[in-house]
Amino acid sequence: MAASPLSYGDGSTYWDKRYLTKASPDEWLLAWSQVADVFEKYCDQPRRQWQILHAGCGNSALTAEMYRAGYEHITSIDNSATVIAQMQAACRDSASLKWCCMDAGEMDFDDGSFDVVIEKGLLDCLGCMDEAKLEVAKVLKEVHRVLRLQGLFFCISFNHNRAAQLAEPWKFSPTDPTAVPICRRYVFRKSSADVLQLLGTAALVVAW
Ligand SMILES: C[S@@+](CC[C@H](N)C(=O)[O-])C[C@H]1O[C@@H](n2cnc3c(N)ncnc32)[C@H](O)[C@@H]1O
Repeated sequence: MAASPLSYGDGSTYWDKRYLTKASPDEWLLAWSQVADVFEKYCDQPRRQWQILHAGCGNSALTAEMYRAGYEHITSIDNSATVIAQMQAACRDSASLKWCCMDAGEMDFDDGSFDVVIEKGLLDCLGCMDEAKLEVAKVLKEVHRVLRLQGLFFCISFNHNRAAQLAEPWKFSPTDPTAVPICRRYVFRKSSADVLQLLGTAALVVAW
C-alpha cells in the first residue's frame, strides 16, 4: 500500500520537504500591505524600538517588508531548519533581522523579551495536527510568556473564533478583530502578568 502523502499535520517533516521542493515562496492569508494599517495603528512610533517576534515565519515576505517599513528589530522563528537557512541567505543584507530555527511551543527567549508577537497561519497549521489542542496550547503559553505585560499579539487566522478562544484563560484582551475576505486580523493585549505560567499546559488545554 502506498504511504499517504505528508500534510500540514505532520510537523516539520512536511514543512522541510515543502520548502526544499517548492521553488516559489508562499504568502499565507495576507501580505504586509493587507495588515500594515492595523499594525501601524498600534505600533507606529518609534518603530525602531519595537522588539518584534514573527512566530512560524515560513518564507513569508512579511518580515522583510516590515523591515523596509522601518521596523528594525524583528526575530523570525520557524521549526523548519530548511526555511530558516533559506531566509537567512535571502535577507543577509538586513543585518538587524534575526532568524532562528526554534519550536514556537518551546522558545529559548527570556520572559517578557518582546513588545509584539505576530503569527500568521501558525495556529491554523497547528490546528491540523493530531494533538491540535496541546500544540496550540503550548504555543499560546509561550507567546504569553515571551511578551511583556501590555505587549501586543497579532494573530492572522482563518479561525473566526480566536477572540473567544484567547480571552480565557489566556488573559489576552482582544482589541478590534477585523474581518477581511478570507480571514480575520486579531490584535490582543497581554493584560495579566504570569498567573498563566502557574498553570500546566495540560490544565490550559482542558480549560480552553
Ligand atoms: C501556514 S505556514 C505560515 C507561514 C508564514 N507565517 C506565512 O504567513 O506565510 C506555517 C509555518 O509554521 C511553521 N511551524 C509549524 N509548527 C511550528 C512550530 N511548532 N514552531 C515553529 N514554527 C512552526 C511551519 O514550518 C510553517 O513555516
